[in-house]
Amino acid sequence: MAIQSVLRMGEESLLQVSERVEKFNTPELNNLIQDMHDTMKHEEGAGLAAPQIGIGLQVVIFGVEQNARYPDVESVPYTILINPTIKPLTKEKEEDWEGCLSVPGMRGMVPRFSKIHYHGYDQYGNTISRDVVGFHSRVVQHECDHLQGILYPMRITNFRTFGFTDVLFPAKN
Ligand code: NI
Repeated sequence: MAIQSVLRMGEESLLQVSERVEKFNTPELNNLIQDMHDTMKHEEGAGLAAPQIGIGLQVVIFGVEQNARYPDVESVPYTILINPTIKPLTKEKEEDWEGCLSVPGMRGMVPRFSKIHYHGYDQYGNTISRDVVGFHSRVVQHECDHLQGILYPMRITNFRTFGFTDVLFPAKN
C-alpha cells in the first residue's frame, strides 16, 4: 500500500501533456499502478490519472462497482489503461455531473460524447479495445483528458451548473 496525495487544481503539472509509456511490466510501472490503485480506493474515486499523483505518464485507472447507495450509477469494469486513444462514435454529447479528486468538494455538468471507441494497453502491454456508452464513456473521456492537461471545469459550457457538492446536493450530505 502506498497512498499518494492527489494534486489539486492550480498545480502547474496538472496542465501538462503526459508522455507515452515505452516499456510495459517494469517494476516502476507496476509500482505506479499499485500506488494509483491504492490512492483511488482510499479516496473512493471512480478513476485516477497518473498526473494527479505527480507522474507525467499516459496511465489511467478507473472502475465503478454497483453500489446500493448509488443504484442509478452504471458499473464500469476495473481497468488499467495506458497510452490511450479515443475516437467518438457519435457527434452526440450528453451532459451529466462530474467530480474530480483534483477538484475536491465540487461538481459540474460536463458535455461528453455518449458513445466512444477507446484503445490502449494494460500494464503487460496487452491491447485493450472497446466500444462503450454512458457512464463508462464519460469516465474514460474524463480520465484521458487529464493526460492532455485538461480538467473537467475546462469542459463546462454552462457555469450555472458548477458548484459545491454539499450545496448542490444537500440531501446527500
Ligand atoms: Ni479527474
